Amino acid sequence: MASEPLAPQSKVMPPTENPLADAYLRVCKRCLMRGTYRTPARVEGRNRWYLYAAAAGLVRPFGFELVRRIDPKERDEGRNFTTDADTMIGSQRLDNLQACVVDVIRRNVPGDLIETGVWRGGASIFMRAVLHAYAITDRTVWLADSFQGLPKPDPERYPADAHDTLWAASALAASVDEVKANFSAYGLLDDQVRFLVGWFKDTLPTAPVDRLAVLRLDGDLYESTMDALTALYPRLSVGGYVIVDDYGAMESCRKAVDDFRADRGIDDPVERIDWTGVFWQRSR
Ligand SMILES: C[S@@+](CC[C@H](N)C(=O)[O-])C[C@H]1O[C@@H](n2cnc3c(N)ncnc32)[C@H](O)[C@@H]1O
Repeated sequence: MASEPLAPQSKVMPPTENPLADAYLRVCKRCLMRGTYRTPARVEGRNRWYLYAAAAGLVRPFGFELVRRIDPKERDEGRNFTTDADTMIGSQRLDNLQACVVDVIRRNVPGDLIETGVWRGGASIFMRAVLHAYAITDRTVWLADSFQGLPKPDPERYPADAHDTLWAASALAASVDEVKANFSAYGLLDDQVRFLVGWFKDTLPTAPVDRLAVLRLDGDLYESTMDALTALYPRLSVGGYVIVDDYGAMESCRKAVDDFRADRGIDDPVERIDWTGVFWQRSR
């Protein structure tokens, strides 16, 4: 099935009347993205960076670190994940996340916030930061992840994932302890943050999440996107948001979203955030 045409790019960050919250959240975004720094490259031995890996290994015993200068524009657009950033998403997707969370707070759309596919936790940390900035104490941020990377494809059930190799990317595996430490670094690890550890197919159907106001999908695969939508969309409040990080970047993810929407007769317009992210607001 062909992908649905996207609605024209919408404003991702409407102005707010809360300058202090905005200022705090602006600093959070820059820190989470490492938007202002030259950061060390995380090098992988088994991929095309093997020369860097070898060189890094040579200099490390002498107390040096091999760093690669990254293009700030590439980082700002969320096009790489080789740095030490806490999130791989870029500024427009963080702005969109802020806009969606602030909007459900303002309009009292009931429910918690969840991200399915958190990696080092950056986008989820940011959701907790928005709750903090607006002094919201009655909503939880849920983090669903294997905390060991992506699953191997299941081509029998999900042919769209058949040739995916992301399961082998060790750089996509961040442990739950690493994510908790990242929350702590921002002073945001508390009982409003809860973890669903395991494969989505096992954790999401029985997750103790009653209602959601924001559902952020970032699991890349058809399987991961479909499992999250199937288990969680029924719990999304009317007026709440679905955000899909990989709609533009991953054909398999896009197909899962399009299949799910077609199957459920969802016709709320899909709005573009940036080169890959999209979102829609549930109207019924
Ligand atoms: C692209 S990364 C997420 C990036 C993150 N949202 C950020 O802000 O940088 C994808 C994550 O999804 C997780 N993941 C993908 N499919 C999964 C599944 N079926 N079950 C559990 N975790 C999954 C991986 O472990 C990985 O942490």
